[in-house]
Parts: sequence; C-alpha cells; structure tokens
Amino acid sequence: MLVLENLKRVVTCAPAGVSGPLLREHMGDLAPLEGDLAVAVRDGRVAFVGPRAKLPAGFARAPRHDCRGLLLTPALIDCHTHPAFVRSRADEFEMRLAGASYEEIAARGGGILSSMKAVREAGDAELLAATRRNLQRLRDHGVAVVEGKSGYGLNQQHELRQLRAIRDAGEALDMHTIRTCLAAHSFPPEFRGDDARREAYVRQVCDEILPAAAKDGLAQRADVFCEQGVFSVAQAAAVANAARRHGLRVTVHAEQLSASGGAALAAGVGADSADHLEFADAAAVSAMARAGTSAVLLPGSTYHLRMGQWADGRAMIGAGLCVALATDFNPGSSPIPNPCFVMNLAVMRCGLTPAEALAAFMRNAAHALRLDTAQWGLVAPGARAAFALWDVEHERELAYYAGANLCREVITCQGWRF
Ligand code: NIG
Ligand code: FE
Repeated sequence: MLVLENLKRVVTCAPAGVSGPLLREHMGDLAPLEGDLAVAVRDGRVAFVGPRAKLPAGFARAPRHDCRGLLLTPALIDCHTHPAFVRSRADEFEMRLAGASYEEIAARGGGILSSMKAVREAGDAELLAATRRNLQRLRDHGVAVVEGKSGYGLNQQHELRQLRAIRDAGEALDMHTIRTCLAAHSFPPEFRGDDARREAYVRQVCDEILPAAAKDGLAQRADVFCEQGVFSVAQAAAVANAARRHGLRVTVHAEQLSASGGAALAAGVGADSADHLEFADAAAVSAMARAGTSAVLLPGSTYHLRMGQWADGRAMIGAGLCVALATDFNPGSSPIPNPCFVMNLAVMRCGLTPAEALAAFMRNAAHALRLDTAQWGLVAPGARAAFALWDVEHERELAYYAGANLCREVITCQGWRF
C-alpha cells in the first residue's frame, strides 16, 4: 500500500461517463482535480483518488510519498519507438544539414542499414546496455509504458536479439514494454538487387521471422514500413496477413514521405494504428475512421527531417479518429526522447490543443496499442499505478516549455505491470 500526498492538482484523464479513447470534443477533457489531494495504491492499482480528507480509513497507516506540490498525471505512454539502437547517427545528421536527403543517405547504404550494422556487430551485453540507456532517456522524460520496435536486425537472429533487449531493458527499469517486430523496416543487403530478391525477403519475414518473433510472446505486434522504394502496398499486405496468422497485432508506418497508400492498407487489414500520416488524404482518414484504426502522429520525425508537410491532426480528430502521439525515438528520423517537445510540435504544427496533446500521450496512446483504457493512461480506481510528477502548475504548460525536461519523477508501484 502507498499513499501519494502533498498534491494540489491531478490530471485524471478520466472524464465521467467516457469509456475508451477520448474522441472529438472529449479529447481535451482531462478531468483535472484540484485541492488538497491524495492518491492511494493497493496491489499495483489505484484504489482512491480525491480529496485527502476522504482517504479511506484502511490507508491511515500506509506509507506516504511526498509529491512536493508537483502536478501529477498518469505516467506517459509512448506508443511508437525504435529503442534498440546502439549508435547515434549524428554523422548523417551533419550530412543532411549539408544538403543530402534522408532517402539519398539510405540509398548509399546509410540510414537504417547503418543502424543494422551496429546492431549486428554489437554483443548481447552491449545491445542490452544501449537499449536500456535509450529506455532510461524516455523514463527520465515521464514515460513508463513504451512500445518498442525491432527493425535494425533485418534477419531472424538479430531481430529476436533486439526484441529480447527491449523486453529485458524494460524489466530492468520497471517499464511496461509492448514489443513490435519490424523486420519489414528495410531490405537487408543480402536481399537487395532485384525484385525477386526483395520478394524473397518478404517471404522470409512472413514465413520465418514473424512466427519466431511471436513465439512465447516475445513480440505482440508486427509493423511494416510501407513507402515508395521500401515495402509496397502488396508487400505490406502480405506482412500484415502473415502477422495475423501468427497471432500478432498489426500496425503500419504509413504516408510518411509520400502518399503511398499505407493508411488505406492499414484500414483494409484492420490494423490497430497507422503511424506518421503526414501525407494521408481525406479518403485515407475516412477509411481509418470506418475501420477503427487509430492515428499515431510522430511530429518529432517531421521536424527532424525538416519536412514541409505536417500531419493534419485537427482533421483527424474532426473525423472521429483516436489520435495519439509518440516520440518515434530513433537515431535516424527522431533522436527526440522528450514527449513534451513532441506535444509542443503537435500543438504548433498539427492543430492539437495542449490538452489534446497530453491526452494523446495517455489514454489515446493506450487505445492505439489496444491496452484497456480502464487500466492504462488514466488515474482512477482500478488503473495501473504508474504516475509522473511535473514541475508545472497546470498541464497546459507541458506543451509550452518546449525542450525543457519538466518531469521530476516517474513513480511505478510494486506490481503495477502485472
Ligand atoms: O519511424 N520510417 C521509418 N522508420 C523510422 C526511421 C528509422 C531510422 O531512420 O532509423 C521512422 O521514421
Ligand atoms: Fe517509426
């Protein structure tokens, strides 16, 4: 048992009468509480949140945690990251600043393939240590639940090593990880050259890598980078269907660099989410709305790649989509481990309000991952006991102080992950 006290403001993200994700006009309804507040925890779950004077008698002698008058929210959920990378790609960053494009660098064997090389060369201990450092960076910025993708192994052995590193690093840091096999991130050097080689890699992903990743729950989901010059819509459909057959849930990197049909494909296969969506048009958005496919916006990568086109979050909210945000933390397109900075970008460039941007990292991120929104991404009785404390007076400041780390503490309580 534990009682959190010395709280003046708590963002519950639990407006009365709303279940599931926060949609349309409800998206900004964070249902904050004010006053002399307390949160009580038993067995890893929230048992009470409200005025300290109403704390149930059973908690009178429970240990206390002093929250120092800071703002309390649910711990953030980062629903799209690539954390199992070993080295920065700041060298390519300089090349891009000097004029080379992301696609040009990739075509020269840099980009995703340079991260692949580093992963394949690293020993298990080095890969785990690097992954752990990357997840720690997210935790330092308020995150306790993280979706982590492989995708820098690009063969069975190294994809599985990445997934294990994410699992083990998460356990070491008491973070809850959702693991996604992204073997279909790029074509490895062994399978480049012609269409037949590329098709052979797709078959290997479908018939060997995904089933191995699904075994024993190592991965829960599969992802595919559907983009011109990478995986075609037909290849992405094959990956999605194979994932399903092996019991994996599906998500898609869609419409990031061009309008390449990934969002319609995601809707068509009933994917949990389509992510990026800078180039998604109105037809794609309505297909996603009909299919119940969530939109995960990653404006950190739009910013870092200096793109002119930003995802139109306002239109997606208006169409009734569950809109979530994530850091996309990775060494190539988004070396950005700070969700508050991503909230700032979403507010400045994607049309979200500060309250909506925060909901997009809490309850809506839970739904994008198909976590139960009665337990994840909110502070209410029955919710998982993971919280973040912020050095601000009001939650609107989280999207406002761009670049600062406002998180003072992430509190994860005994048993919260199970
Ligand atoms: O989400 N779009 C493809 N994948 C990543 C980038 C990965 C990388 O460059 O290493 C993304 O932007
Ligand atoms: Fe990504």
